[in-house]
Amino acid sequence: MNTISFKTLGCRLNLYETDALASKFRARGFVTDGDFENSDAEIFVINTCTITNQSDKKSREYINRAIRKGSLVVVTGCMAEQYAKKYLPDNARVIVVDNKHKNMICEIVEAHLSGEFNGVENYKGDVFGFLPAKETFHTRSIVKIQDGCNNFCSYCIVPYVRGRAVSRPAEDILLNIKTELEYGFKEIVLTGVNISKYNYNGVGFEDLIKQILEIDNDFRLRIASIEPDDFSDSFVQLFKNPKLAPHIHLCLQSGSNDVLKRMHRHYTREEFLGIVDKFRAIIPDFNFTTDIIVGLPGETENDFAQTLEVASKIGFGHIHAFKYSRRSGTLADKMDNQIDEKIKNKRSKILRDLSEKLSSDYLQKMIGKRQILLTETVENDGFIYGYGENYVRIKMKMFDGVKTNEFYTVKIVGVEGDVLIGEKV
Ligand code: 5AD
Ligand code: SF4
Repeated sequence: MNTISFKTLGCRLNLYETDALASKFRARGFVTDGDFENSDAEIFVINTCTITNQSDKKSREYINRAIRKGSLVVVTGCMAEQYAKKYLPDNARVIVVDNKHKNMICEIVEAHLSGEFNGVENYKGDVFGFLPAKETFHTRSIVKIQDGCNNFCSYCIVPYVRGRAVSRPAEDILLNIKTELEYGFKEIVLTGVNISKYNYNGVGFEDLIKQILEIDNDFRLRIASIEPDDFSDSFVQLFKNPKLAPHIHLCLQSGSNDVLKRMHRHYTREEFLGIVDKFRAIIPDFNFTTDIIVGLPGETENDFAQTLEVASKIGFGHIHAFKYSRRSGTLADKMDNQIDEKIKNKRSKILRDLSEKLSSDYLQKMIGKRQILLTETVENDGFIYGYGENYVRIKMKMFDGVKTNEFYTVKIVGVEGDVLIGEKV
C-alpha cells in the first residue's frame, strides 16, 4: 500500500482542498498521513501559498524537504505555477498541478504510479470538483462555496493565481453539508476567497445561509473570512439563530481612509465601524477577528496610528498582522514610497502587541457568560478542550462519560493565557 503525506500552507481553502484530496486517496486504498515532519511516506503533496514572500519561501522549503524525503512529490496551490517556472529543478519525480486541476491529483498520482501519466492538461479540472471529506485532519468541516476574486486590491496576488470569482451551485453545497453532518461533523465552516460575493443563478450569500440554517440537524455554522460589504439588516438578523456562530473574520486591512483608497478597498473606516455596530446592536459580544496589513507604500505614522485607533475601538478578538510584501504584477508593487523593512517590523510588532491586549480584554469580558463548547481534544492536564460559538478556546474539567465532538453548555469562570475556563452547566 502506498503512503501519502500532505503539507498545507496558507488559507482555509487550501485546508479544505487538502482534506478532500486526502479523503479521496484513503477511499482509493492509500494510507494518508497529515504529519509531514515525521512522515516516511513515499508520496508527498505540498499545497502551497504565495500570499507573501514569506509564504513563497516556506512553500519552497517544504517542497525541497519533500523532494529529499519522497519518491514522488506533487506541488500544487497558488505558488505551483510560479514555482514551476522559476525554481523547479529538472526532476521527473516532481509533478506540478495548477489550482484548476487540483481536484484531479488522485487520478494524476495513480496514472504516474502505473506509468500512464501524460500531462496535467489531459485531466478535466474543476475548482468545485472535490467530494465531501469523511475524515479530516481537524474537528470542523470546511465547505467550499466559492473561488476566485474580482476585487484586485492593489497589494493582492490572489485574483491572478485563483482567477475570477465563481460560485458553486447551492444544491451541491447543501448536499455536501448534509453528507458532512451524516459523517458526524457538528461544525461547518463556509469558505472561499470572497464569499460575500457568492451568487449562483440568483441565489445570493444571504439566501444560501438561510437554506443551510434550515437543515434539520444539530450543528453550527461558521462563516470564516469575509470582506466588508453592505450587509443588509435581514442578513444581520440571521445571527439571532443560535445555529449561526456569532463570529466573523472581517478583513479591515487598514484604519486609514487614504490607505484604504490606495489599497482599492471599497469602504471607509466609518463604514467599517458602522458594520461592527450593526452586528453588536444584536449580539453585544459578537467576536470580530481580522487581517491588517502594515507598511503599504506611502503608509505614514499617522495612517498607522489611525489603524491602531480603529482596531482598539472595535476590540478585535484577534488580529492577523501582515507586513506588506511586494507581489510582482500587482499595482502596489509599482507604487512609490515603498516602506523600509525596519519600519514594517516596528509597526507589525506594535500591532501584534495590541492584538494580544485586545484578545485578553475580550476574553476577560467573557467571564460570567455562557458558551456552547464543541469539544475537540483531551489533554493530559485533566481537561477537555475545544471552541465556543464565539471562536474562543475553552477548556472544561473532564468527567465520566465526557466525549469529544460533542456540544456542552458551559459558564465561563476564568481565563488562563488565551484559554477560557468553562464549567459545565
Ligand atoms: N502583503 C501582505 N499581506 C497580504 N495579504 C494579501 N496580500 C498581501 C501582501 N501583498 C494579506 C491580507 C489578506 C490576507 C489573506 O493576506 O491581509 O486578508
Ligand atoms: Fe485579495 Fe482583496 Fe480579493 Fe481578498 S478581496 S482575495 S485581499 S483581492
